Amino acid sequence: MTLPMGPPPVCNMTGLRVVPCPDASFLTDANAMARQGPAGPAGRGGIVEGVSVMNEVVDPAPGRSIVLIGLMGAGKTSVGKRLAARLGRPFVDSDHEIEEAAGQDIPSIFATLGEGAFRDGERRVIARLLTGAPKVIATGGGAWMNEQTRAAIEKDALSVWLDAKLNTLHARVAGKPGRPLLDGQDAKQVLERLIAQRYPLYEQADVRVLSTAGANHETMVDRILRAIEQEQEK
Ligand code: S3P
Repeated sequence: MTLPMGPPPVCNMTGLRVVPCPDASFLTDANAMARQGPAGPAGRGGIVEGVSVMNEVVDPAPGRSIVLIGLMGAGKTSVGKRLAARLGRPFVDSDHEIEEAAGQDIPSIFATLGEGAFRDGERRVIARLLTGAPKVIATGGGAWMNEQTRAAIEKDALSVWLDAKLNTLHARVAGKPGRPLLDGQDAKQVLERLIAQRYPLYEQADVRVLSTAGANHETMVDRILRAIEQEQEK
């Protein structure tokens, strides 16, 4: 989609009052960059012979951000937070960063600016998140489909695909608001289509970890750490 030209469009985002759309400045991501501040050291971990150590956990990817990819409901945000805590790294969620930069939530961005503008903002936000101190970054399900984003993650970070089956994803997202691709749709059908489109590309991630229905978040963190270690040993 092309950016709106001229005076900003008027949005009715609350349903109660008419408010001006926030401008599309999140597409330049300048305000978000201002919020990021200087790159600090990676979390609180110390350095032992070139390996970061936090709470007895050896950081398996020192110096590189760990980027979680996968479909809606794969657990990227909830598991990512715990992975970051375990490693003593900062955690960031690209959807949250886009919302902060745009000054509106994702359904509003889709409704007022369109999916194209969201995807453009997503690409820029992730490029910015890849700079600075190593973090754990949870991405939106579509982020990895952008070629530039994939290349940037491949160059600067370690990608982890949380691979979940259709029924697991569906059970986690069904009936939950806030995901415009599922709103008013048959969620199972949409997920099925996205699996067909996206899984062949998700397979290019550095590491693949199964996100099974019964696995709690800490178990998922264990699986991720083990899978990264195995990948590094190759
Ligand atoms: C999307 C996934 C969402 C969000 C947006 C689009 C997608 O993030 O980025 O609604 O294209 O799969 P989650 O995967 O965190 O739900």
